[in-house]
Amino acid sequence: MSAALPHGIPNNSGDQQSRGVDSSGVEFPKNDPSGKLIVALDVSSAAAAQKIVAAVGDSALTYKVGMQLYTAEGPQVVRDLVASGRRVFLDLKYHDIPNTVASAVHEAAKLGVSMLTVHAAGGSKMLKAAVDAARSSNPNLIILAVTVLTSLDKEQLDKVGFRGTVHEEVLRLAALALDNGCKGIVTSARETAAVRAGLGHNFAIVTPGVRPPGSAHADQARVATPAEAIAAGATHIVVGRPITEATDPAAEARSILAQIS
Ligand code: C5P
Repeated sequence: MSAALPHGIPNNSGDQQSRGVDSSGVEFPKNDPSGKLIVALDVSSAAAAQKIVAAVGDSALTYKVGMQLYTAEGPQVVRDLVASGRRVFLDLKYHDIPNTVASAVHEAAKLGVSMLTVHAAGGSKMLKAAVDAARSSNPNLIILAVTVLTSLDKEQLDKVGFRGTVHEEVLRLAALALDNGCKGIVTSARETAAVRAGLGHNFAIVTPGVRPPGSAHADQARVATPAEAIAAGATHIVVGRPITEATDPAAEARSILAQIS
């Protein structure tokens, strides 16, 4: 049975023993697609986040805490999610000098997060410092590199000094991240198949911009359905509003799981 924790996040009643490890080294529950679904908690208070987590129930295991919620509420929101049995994907996109990023990764590991993001454009020394900090703090912590933000088009890339096409830059930065030990990347479904074709299958690809068939795109322009993203080679999909704004978030999450089973 679920028992409420001090900060109101109900305990996850999932069986912690029945987990396996996928080809990218990412832990997930055996025979359970819920390991592939990450629900984005894009809200401004712990109370709003707790409401979503309670409404989703056991239909999702992993939650993304990004800069909005983290800036508003700080690390306690992460500690509470972890204490309730959820996995946390901390999406703060670290991009700083190697020593600073390594220190931040070490602190994130202490919070118990399962996955976190760094910018591949931080360079090989920064990426390696992040990976080494994760290995020495929690070898299971997945360092994911953000390649090219999907909000950047070719014209904007040129202005920041990236000379290749979006595809070329994604592949180049993904290769840099993997060469320096990152266990995966974040990219849109649009680039996922090319990254798999160019760089293989032994790493995680986390794909946002996912929309179930027939749901509103909101501000997402380059969308894929859950099934399309997984078929293109994503190991994980990030879904925010289609679940968090659904009348029945648990039913919506179950429906998405059925589409990727
Ligand atoms: O609500 P929605 O499903 O659009 O949320 C998608 C999540 O993925 C948001 O947290 C957003 O910040 C994140 N994201 C994205 N596109 C990227 C990288 C991250 O939509 N390229």
